[in-house]
Amino acid sequence: MSEDASPGAASDADAPCCSDDREPAPTGSSDEACCDGGAGVTERDSTTGSKSDAATGSGLDPAAQRRAVRERYAGIATGGDAGTDGTDATGGTDGTGSSTAAAGASTGGCCSGEGTDDGCGGTAADGTARQVGYTAEEVDAVADGANLGLGCGNPGAIADLEAGEVALDLGSGAGFDCFLAAREVGESGSVIGVDMTPEMVETARANAADSDVGNVEFRLGEIEHLPVADGSIDVVISNCVINLSPAKPQVFREAFRALRPGGRLAVSDVVRTAEVPSDLRADPDSVAACVAGAATVDELESMLRDAGFVDASIEPKADSEAFVREWDDDHDPSEFVRSASIEARKPDTGAGEEP
Ligand SMILES: C[S@@+](CC[C@H](N)C(=O)[O-])C[C@H]1O[C@@H](n2cnc3c(N)ncnc32)[C@H](O)[C@@H]1O
Repeated sequence: MSEDASPGAASDADAPCCSDDREPAPTGSSDEACCDGGAGVTERDSTTGSKSDAATGSGLDPAAQRRAVRERYAGIATGGDAGTDGTDATGGTDGTGSSTAAAGASTGGCCSGEGTDDGCGGTAADGTARQVGYTAEEVDAVADGANLGLGCGNPGAIADLEAGEVALDLGSGAGFDCFLAAREVGESGSVIGVDMTPEMVETARANAADSDVGNVEFRLGEIEHLPVADGSIDVVISNCVINLSPAKPQVFREAFRALRPGGRLAVSDVVRTAEVPSDLRADPDSVAACVAGAATVDELESMLRDAGFVDASIEPKADSEAFVREWDDDHDPSEFVRSASIEARKPDTGAGEEP
């Protein structure tokens, strides 16, 4: 187990975020200058100064992207889906669900948590989880409400977690992967979930209290400014979150900082396999639904390399086409994205190892 995953943990647990209305700088972050007038972090090409598309992935301004994402997941955490344009939980604008086509249709499937049953006694989220790679035993093992059906893979299945390890989940949602990881690392290990949506963190903490899990904690924060100490984490996991970030290279730099030398990254996320039409790239709902902000395999490889990771492997899953196709009623997201397993390692020396 790593020595110290939690310096400042108590005070950092609700470290304010750096965008929107919030104040900067969780302790332990390598980047104290995280605020940029409310936009969060904007990746800029150091030579041209222009905004990098690979960083946001979308056609949205970074602040708009972060706002769209936070609104959507706040809506899901509080019991409904949320459009990003003032629509209500039903996809309508009047509380009746009557104008469903726009927001409702473009927010289905992954990242939506919609539906109520899977046709075999479980919830729709249970069915989604099994579809993306969880076993029925895993689905049944967590408290009701922890699995919201928001993932696009099963990062725990590739993380090889061991007893005593410290795991960090980027964008932990209601805590599904954290609770599963907690079983693997056992009482001698621990799991930290980080999420920027206060309503999600509240839900996750309530789920932890309900299930009386002692080795998991949830911290409010942005994955671009992780509220954990340098070198304190054995394994970084994440499920369908990094595609949502408007500053993806910084997420990988932060994951690298947080990992101990030799630590590993085990992520499930979507990758872009074809150009996304510009109207979709600029659609907040499509971005927040894990479609329009995704980076390509090449872009992700280069972000991992630039952050210092070695042994990177990014494997798009051919069989993900079937469930990706169901994420939207209006168009077929599988034309543009696939779910993938993303793995990499921080060199044992901490830096400078030749790939
Ligand atoms: C698609 S959901 C996935 C939740 C969880 N990983 C799961 O599989 O159930 C995305 C989650 O990531 C969080 N999130 C998105 N972007 C984030 C960021 N930049 N920093 C922290 N959390 C973020 C959202 O608030 C939301 O809870």
